[in-house]
This record gives sequence, C-alpha cells and structure tokens, in this order.
Amino acid sequence: MTQTIPSTDERIDREWWKEAVVYQIYPRSFNDSDGDGVGDIPGITERVDYLDALGVDVVWLCPVYDSPNHDNGYDIRDYRAILDEFGDMADWERLRDELHDRDMKIIMDLVVNHTSNEHEWFQRSRREEGEYADYYHWVEGSPDEPPNNWESLFGGPAWSYDEERGAWYLHVFNENQPDLNWRNPDVREAVKSVVTWWLDRGIDGFRMDAISHLSKPEGYPNGDPDEDGPLGSEHYTLGPRLGEYLDELGEVIPEESMTAGEMGGASAEDAREYIERGDCLDMVFHFDHLGVDQGGDWTGDDWGEWSLPEFKELMTRNQREVARRTWEALFLGNHDHPRIVSRFGHDDYREKSAKLVGTFLLTMRGTPYLYQGQEIGMTNTEFDALGEIDDAMTVGIVEELLADGAVDSFDEVREAVNYRSRDHARTPMQWAAQDGADFTEGEPWLAVNDNYTRINVEDAVDDTDSVWHHYRRLVELRGDDPALVYGDYDLLAPDDEQIYAFTRTLGDDRRLVVLNWSAEPAVFESAELAAADATVMIGNYDDAPTAPLGAEFRPFEAVVYEY
Ligand code: NOJ
Repeated sequence: MTQTIPSTDERIDREWWKEAVVYQIYPRSFNDSDGDGVGDIPGITERVDYLDALGVDVVWLCPVYDSPNHDNGYDIRDYRAILDEFGDMADWERLRDELHDRDMKIIMDLVVNHTSNEHEWFQRSRREEGEYADYYHWVEGSPDEPPNNWESLFGGPAWSYDEERGAWYLHVFNENQPDLNWRNPDVREAVKSVVTWWLDRGIDGFRMDAISHLSKPEGYPNGDPDEDGPLGSEHYTLGPRLGEYLDELGEVIPEESMTAGEMGGASAEDAREYIERGDCLDMVFHFDHLGVDQGGDWTGDDWGEWSLPEFKELMTRNQREVARRTWEALFLGNHDHPRIVSRFGHDDYREKSAKLVGTFLLTMRGTPYLYQGQEIGMTNTEFDALGEIDDAMTVGIVEELLADGAVDSFDEVREAVNYRSRDHARTPMQWAAQDGADFTEGEPWLAVNDNYTRINVEDAVDDTDSVWHHYRRLVELRGDDPALVYGDYDLLAPDDEQIYAFTRTLGDDRRLVVLNWSAEPAVFESAELAAADATVMIGNYDDAPTAPLGAEFRPFEAVVYEY
C-alpha cells in the first residue's frame, strides 16, 4: 500500500478503507490461465504484480462461487464452493495470500437478495421440505394470474409459476434468481453463517449486491403505474424492514471489515441514512449521478446526452449529503455500466479524457473504485444483433419489448443497446496486442474489442505518458495526501458548461482540481488559481496553467493544484 498519511493526524476520522483505492475484477473477463476462453482465479493470481504496480489497495472480486451462470455468477448455487471454470478453493486461497503478501486486501461479492434456482435451498423449498419451505417468497394461486403486477428489474413479470410446488415465487431479477425471504429468521441465520464462513477465510470485507431489495412488504401490494421504474419497485426497493435486516447482518461483521452496499433506487439521502444507522454499511453504491445521461426509456433516442452543470449538481449533492457526513463510494462505471471513457469522455480525446475522468474520481472525497480496463482507457464495443449480447438484463428487456410489440426489430433498440449494454464492460481485458489480447489462448467467451491492438496493458505500461501511468501517479498522489482523502469538498463555478472545478480543504492544506470537461478550450477564473503559491501536483498536459486569475485550459485538461 502507498498510504503514508500520518497516524497522528487529529483532523480526520481515519479508517483504512477510506484511504484505499479499490480495483474491481470481473473474473470471467480478466485473465484466462488455461485457454478455455473464460477468465479464472489462477489467471488473476498471475496478474497480482500488475495490480501492485498500479498501486491499488483492495481487490473486489465479483462472484466466483458455484453458479449456473444465468447472470454470470450473480445467481449462486453454492456459497461455499468455487465455480469449476474459475478453479477451486485452493486457487482462491492462493490468490488471497498473494494479495495479502503484497499488502493488498480482498473483498468478496455477497449476493444474498436471491440465490440461483439451482441452489439446494430453492430445490428443497419448492419441495416444501421442513424449514426450507418458507425460504423464498411463495404465493399460491391460479397459474394464470400472478399474485400482483410487479415487474422484474430485468424485464417481464417479477413472479414465475413453479409447477412442482404449484405456487408463484418472486424474483426481482430474472426467473433463475428467486428472492430469499428475509422475513424468515432462518434465512437471516443462514445468510449470517455464509458471511461468517467467508470472514473466517480471512477476507477483508464485502461488496453487498442488490442490498436495497432485501425487504418486501407483507401482502405484496400492487405497484403504482405513476411511480418511476418497473411496476412495484417502489415496494421491493428500500422496503419496510431493510434497516432491521442490515442491523442484524452487521452483528456478524467485524468493525475492521470494509462493507459497500449496492443500493439501486436509493437517493443520496437514503444512502446516508442506511450508512448512518449502524454497523452494517461503511459506504453505498447509489446511482442518481449515473442517471444524468439516460431517461431509462429503451425505445427513446436521447441516449448519451448530458449536461455538465447537472452532473456537477448531482455529484455535489453526493459529496454534501453522503461523503461529507459519512463516506462515499466513488464510481462512474462497473460491470453493469458502459465503459466510462465512452460514456463520460470523448472518442477524439480518448487518452486525455480518460485521464480527466481518473483525476476526477481520485480527487473526490470517498473511496474510489476502478473497474478493470479503466486504467488503460478501454472503450465500448459495437453490437449488431441481439445474438451478440450475453447480458441477461439487456436480453431480458429487449425480448420483452419485442414480445409486447413495443418494437418490431433489434434495429429500433440498437442505439439504446449500444449505449446501455452491460457487455461493454465485460469484453475481455486487453493485456497485449496479440491474438485474444493475451486474455486467452482459446476462443474468448465474449468477443475481444477490436481496438486491443491499440489499447492494451503492455503498450500502456511501456509508455510513461499513458493513461495507465497517469492512474498510477494519481493513486500514489492520493495515498500520500490526507487533503485528497479527507479534505472538505467545495464546488466552484457551478453553472460553467465546460469547467468542473472544486477545492479540497483540510486545515491549511488546500487543493484545487480544475477539469475542462469539454472538447473546446475553456477559460477558468479563480482566486485559488491565482494564489501566489499555487503549484501543480499533477496534470494531463505538459505545462499546466498557473498564476493568472483567468487561465485557458485545453480540451479535457485536468490539473490538481496545491495552493
Ligand atoms: C447487481 C449486480 O451488480 C448485477 O451484475 C446483477 O445482475 C444484479 N445485481 C443481480 O444480482
């Protein structure tokens, strides 16, 4: 780890996870060690020195558990076993040890809103075996009429009829992902024992999947068509007993562990409330800021349009409501979202804009999360047909639109799919300009982006001016600078359409971040910049502007000053 923040600094409430930079690995797409085209755990272990060189402190491992893979591991068949394709428990232990030997930590994905329908619990539940009968949300009734009008987050109804039990079961994701019944205390005990089992294996915390959906109201009231989102989601998101369930889970999670809860549907204020209430969540992934460029209408044609002042407002609200008062998970992308340079950067300024986005994420208050490939500026790909998509969400939604007659062909949703598909983030990691991008010697499970000959780790590490080196320097800078980790955030020039500028202040330590988030030059005036002692800590062009009150910043120029 790079942290050298003095332990005696009294201005801050120190926690190791506040000072950390997290690197998220989607194992299927990271590195394949055995040539079957699928990334695996030994493949990750081969790249641990790479992560160490980048300087990150924590690895978040997306699910590696045994799973039939209808949602690439987010449908778990056995919480205590590793998926064969990924290796075995000995491989996982080796990875843990190699990370720990280099002072890096490992957090696991905890997916306990639902299991796979192939999980033993569900199999026994559908047979109504003893205590398992009530492990899921079952409702009896006619096979022709679901218990209510709820829709799944992945398209289609949120209920499926199980012939074997002769009853409906609830799934807020796809039909292979039945929701656990958290009202049942036995379920909560079973989940806590999974948590303890992994903690006993020496992990350093959890990223908690879909945690906002754990609580469903008694009686399953119908959804209101006037509410946003899929019908009924107002009932199964931030449900009545969620806080109570989180408190109970928190009882088995030690203070020193790191926890980040994924809370789709939560506002900044909701996120803060759940962090503040107790011992379960250190930080939350909430998503308002990622709504800036999409209305969520898959048949619409305004995908990708966003305004910088609105984005600043959303991010500043997160900083004010969450980061300042508790702590924030800083992210602009992950395995569920398009590549950030394609979304928030600019094709003609790929390197500059990738560095700008990196500068932004690594200088805000909160814990930054880097998603694999972001550190070399990997981009979106192009999908020409539904058959090229693996992502259960995109396939589910598009199939539903086709079935309902809302669209007649893939072409009508091509723009939305190419903007929104989760597969952009899941194309294999581009390690080198050789066949299979050095991700695999076999046939990759999802096509490698054609630009691997230009955008790859080997070239980026060789070039000291690359996006990768910029990320490495930013991680190091942040690790050495309490003001960038703990300092207060204040937005400057909120209405400026091109410049995103803010200060970070910790006592007398003052930092100014200026980002020209546009493809045109932009003038930015500020007393902070004109301060006699303003010096550049890092910039993505040579000779960043200093001293004048009003200075011109070049397209996608990003500079951090000390003043
Ligand atoms: C959120 C995960 O990030 C996503 O990949 C998954 O499909 C859903 N939760 C369901 O587990």
